[in-house]
Amino acid sequence: MIDNKTIIENLEKRLSSFTSNPKTQNVGTVQKNTDGVVSVSGLSKAFMGEIIEFEDGSRGTVLNLDEDQASIILFNNGLTIVEGQTAKTTGERLTIAASEELLGRVVNPLGIPLDGKPEIKKGKEMPLERIAAGVVAREPVNKPLKTGIKSIDAMFPIGRGQRELIIGDRGLGKTAIAIDTIINQRVAGKGLNPVICIYVAIGQKQNTVARVVDKLKQENAFANTIVVVAGASDPATLQYLAPYAGVAIGEYFLEKGQDVLIVYDDLTKHAWAYRQLSLVLRRPAGREAYPGDIFYLHSRLLERAVKLNKENGNGSITALPIIETQAGDISAYIPTNVISITDGQIFLQADLFNAGIRPAINTGSSVSRVGGAAQTGSMKSVAGKMKLEMSQYRELAAFSQFGSELDPETKAQLERGQRINEILKQPQYHPLTEEWEVIDIGLVTNGFLDDIPVSEITKYIEEFRPFVKKHYAKLLETFGNGEKVKPEDLKQLEKAASEFTKQFKK
Ligand SMILES: Nc1ncnc2c1ncn2[C@@H]1O[C@H](COP(=O)(O)OP(=O)(O)OP(=O)(O)O)[C@@H](O)[C@H]1O
Ligand SMILES: [Mg+2]
Repeated sequence: MIDNKTIIENLEKRLSSFTSNPKTQNVGTVQKNTDGVVSVSGLSKAFMGEIIEFEDGSRGTVLNLDEDQASIILFNNGLTIVEGQTAKTTGERLTIAASEELLGRVVNPLGIPLDGKPEIKKGKEMPLERIAAGVVAREPVNKPLKTGIKSIDAMFPIGRGQRELIIGDRGLGKTAIAIDTIINQRVAGKGLNPVICIYVAIGQKQNTVARVVDKLKQENAFANTIVVVAGASDPATLQYLAPYAGVAIGEYFLEKGQDVLIVYDDLTKHAWAYRQLSLVLRRPAGREAYPGDIFYLHSRLLERAVKLNKENGNGSITALPIIETQAGDISAYIPTNVISITDGQIFLQADLFNAGIRPAINTGSSVSRVGGAAQTGSMKSVAGKMKLEMSQYRELAAFSQFGSELDPETKAQLERGQRINEILKQPQYHPLTEEWEVIDIGLVTNGFLDDIPVSEITKYIEEFRPFVKKHYAKLLETFGNGEKVKPEDLKQLEKAASEFTKQFKK
């Protein structure tokens, strides 16, 4: 028989385990499980975003707290969770272990590797939800983040810490712009640190993501890159969490004073995942059936893009969110939301794409509101002129369609515009270094290509490059040093061009 003393001792032991870890005593009962969203009653101490553990080992996080029940979104499909089972709070917030070990890896939003390589062991636990840095810790954008894409770097320059939206219909090269920008970070510019790139793939097919990863490896751009994937077949919860996991990893490097580039490909599918969860939660549906807080969802994500000042380590997070439109409609609900949250947009258009103008950037509807401050002197001196000539060309081109007779000046402007269009065409996976961007644009805006037929411009600039390397290598230095282009430098470029033109025409 057990004596009283043993019984009391046992009871005390049990009680002490409860009082030392008060959170574990909060156990609730599953009410129902609808498509990965579980309602649990009795979790009176649960908080928003807390991790909840179920009897069968499944885990999830709190998305809704009502008076009498909590709604938990599951990380797995939770098929074995049924009514009556228990669920307990853990006191933990959702975090992801971030460290340099993640570089060159593919993980899911919980940090679980998807590339078949070993588990990521160590790391600092970074919270998925965090309040963005305040104004006092920030400074204005002042360093460029070069995409290596001529039309963007010249007309819509992006600065470190900026949020620039890439928007357009299906299959117009949105991902291509983001991937080229990542590839361009493999060589750090003069005086610039290498940039850590994070590519967040949301709701995409597995093989699409695999192709991107392969390409990055092939281009030697994967060592500095982390890919976070929540695929089309993953639970909506993971798709919803993916961008937050990405930026949480970014903040690890930010804290170390590094520069980070993060791509969200794409936030349209992110919005769909959140709408799905919200509809199951029976939250009131608003415009286009999205819940009312969808704007807040994206703004608190993009607010975490930042350029920190010196006292805070000088790091930055540059964000390139992607949005897919239907038939070029940028005035739909999600597009207008994200346009208003970002510092500009690059708008891709189907008719340009089909006319062979790739990247298919609509120069009239695209804008970068802050990046100009970060543009180098050399780029400024050739690009300012180009933007003006492009807009003149667009106006005239519309007019000239009426077929009226044109005066020589108008004709010359049209011809110039066609050549600029031609210069801005750039194949995929070929980001350019600054000196070549400046040389290409300088050639056309200074009229050095005026007597080259429009159809031969692409060929011309391709063959011009080895010529310059061989005979005018000094030009690469003067056009790549970031300083304002001097008249004598232009003279040199003109000399090189006219020499090469003779050779080219033969
Ligand atoms: N600069 C370019 N030059 C030539 N082809 C390009 C260029 N950019 C993209 N493409 C081609 O256009 C197609 C669509 O590109 P991409 O997949 O990047 O578009 P997307 O807008 O991301 O599409 P989705 O909506 O399916 O995600 C691809 O076949 C790609 O190779
Ligand atoms: Mg894409």
